[in-house]
Amino acid sequence: MKSIIILGSTGSIGTNTLDIVQRFPDEFRVVGLTAGHNIDKLEEQIRRFRPTAVAVAAESSAAQLRSRCANLPVEILSGEEGITQIATGLDAELVISAIVGAAGLVPTLSAIRSGKHIALANKEPMVMAGKLMQDEARKYGVRIFPVDSEHSAIFQSLEGHRIEDVRRLILTASGGALWTLSHEQLQDVTPERALQHPNWKMGSKITIDSATLMNKGLEVVEARWLFDIPESSIDVLVHRESIIHSLVEYHDRSMIAQLGLPDMRTPISYAMRYPARMPLDLPSLDLTEIGRLSFCKPDHDRFPCLNLGYESLRIGGTMPAVMNAANEIAVEAFLNHGLRFVEIAPVIHSTMETHTHQEITCLDDALEADRWAREKAGSLVHALPRS
Ligand SMILES: NC(=O)c1ccc[n+]([C@@H]2O[C@H](COP(=O)([O-])OP(=O)(O)OC[C@H]3O[C@@H](n4cnc5c(N)ncnc54)[C@H](OP(=O)(O)O)[C@@H]3O)[C@@H](O)[C@H]2O)c1
Repeated sequence: MKSIIILGSTGSIGTNTLDIVQRFPDEFRVVGLTAGHNIDKLEEQIRRFRPTAVAVAAESSAAQLRSRCANLPVEILSGEEGITQIATGLDAELVISAIVGAAGLVPTLSAIRSGKHIALANKEPMVMAGKLMQDEARKYGVRIFPVDSEHSAIFQSLEGHRIEDVRRLILTASGGALWTLSHEQLQDVTPERALQHPNWKMGSKITIDSATLMNKGLEVVEARWLFDIPESSIDVLVHRESIIHSLVEYHDRSMIAQLGLPDMRTPISYAMRYPARMPLDLPSLDLTEIGRLSFCKPDHDRFPCLNLGYESLRIGGTMPAVMNAANEIAVEAFLNHGLRFVEIAPVIHSTMETHTHQEITCLDDALEADRWAREKAGSLVHALPRS
C-alpha cells in the first residue's frame, strides 16, 4: 500500500486524486491533506479518508476545523508553515502537488528536499524555479512525475526512447473557451464567459489561463525543465478536441502520441502508480464516434500570452517567475471584474519589460522575483483607466 499526501486536496486535481484513492482503497493510504479555505470539503475528506494530519491556509479556518473534528484523531495545522510541515513531516512515498499558483512552491520544494517523490500538477513552481527543482530532485533522489495531461502524454511517449533521439516536443492546446472569438469580440469578454472551457472542468485560474493561452506558455516552460529540452525544440499545436494530449517527434520523423478522452484521472493515476497502469472504469475513446480530429497553428495576435512564455525562457533566470506572478495578479483582477480580458497580456508584458532578470541560485531568488512582480503588476492594474 502506498502512503500519499495531497497538497490542494479540495481542488479539481485534489478531488480527482481522492476519487482514484476511493476506487482503489487497497492501493493507497492518505496520510496528509492540505487546503486553502474550503473547510467544508476538507472536513468531509477528513471523515472519509482519515488522514493523520491536515493543514489549511489560515489559522482562523484551522481553529474552526479543530472544533468540528474534535472527536477525530487528526492533527490540524495552518499557514504556509503548517502546509509545508504536512508536505515534509509525515511518512509518505508520494506527494501529489496540486495547490494552484506560486503558493505551491515552498511546500513542493520542501517535499522534494524531504525525499518524497512528487506527482506534479502544480505547474507554477516548475515555471518559477524549474532548474532549482530539478537540481534538488536529483540531489535527493526524487522523481517528479508529470500530472498535467500534456506532460504526462510526453512522458508516456518518451518511455523506452532515448532523449537524444528527440527532435521536438509538441504540446497540444484546446484553445480554451474563447478560441473562436474575433479581436472585437474579445474586448468585452466576461469572466463567466471565459470560464466556459469546452473540454476540461478545472479550477478557475487554469481555466482563464487556457482562455488566454498563458496555460500553454506556462506549459512550455514546464516542459523545458521536466524534460530538459530547449524551448526551440518545443512546439504548440492547437487541437480543439483534446484527444491527442501531446506528441514527441524523433529524428527519424516518427511521431509518438498519447490519446484518450479528456479525463484527468488517467494522467493522475499514471503518476500515482507508475509504471503500472490502473484499471480505471472510465469511458473508452471511440475514434469512429469522434470521426475527425482538427489541428491548426496558435494565433499569437489574439492570444499573445503563449509567446510571453517562450520569451521568458529565452531571457531566463528570474523572468519566468516574474511572468508567472504578473499573470496570477492579472487573472485574479480579471476574475474580480477589475481588468478586461484583453488587458491581461499587456499587464504581464509590461511587468516583464521593467524587470532586470537575475540568475536563480536559491529559493529566495525565486520568491523575491515573485514578490517584486506581484507589486509591479498590482500597480499596473491599479493604474489602468476604468470605464
Ligand atoms: N484542474 C485540472 O484539470 C488541471 C490540469 C492540469 C494542471 N493543473 C494544475 O494543477 C494545479 C491545481 O489546479 P486545480 O484546477 O485543481 O485548481 P483549484 O481547483 O483551484 O484547486 C486549487 C487547490 O489549491 C488550494 N489553494 C489555493 N490557494 C492556496 C493557498 N494560498 N495556500 C494553500 N492552498 C491553496 C485550494 O484550496 P481551497 O479550494 O480550499 O481554497 C485547492 O485545494 C494548478 O497549478 C493547475 O495549473 C490542473
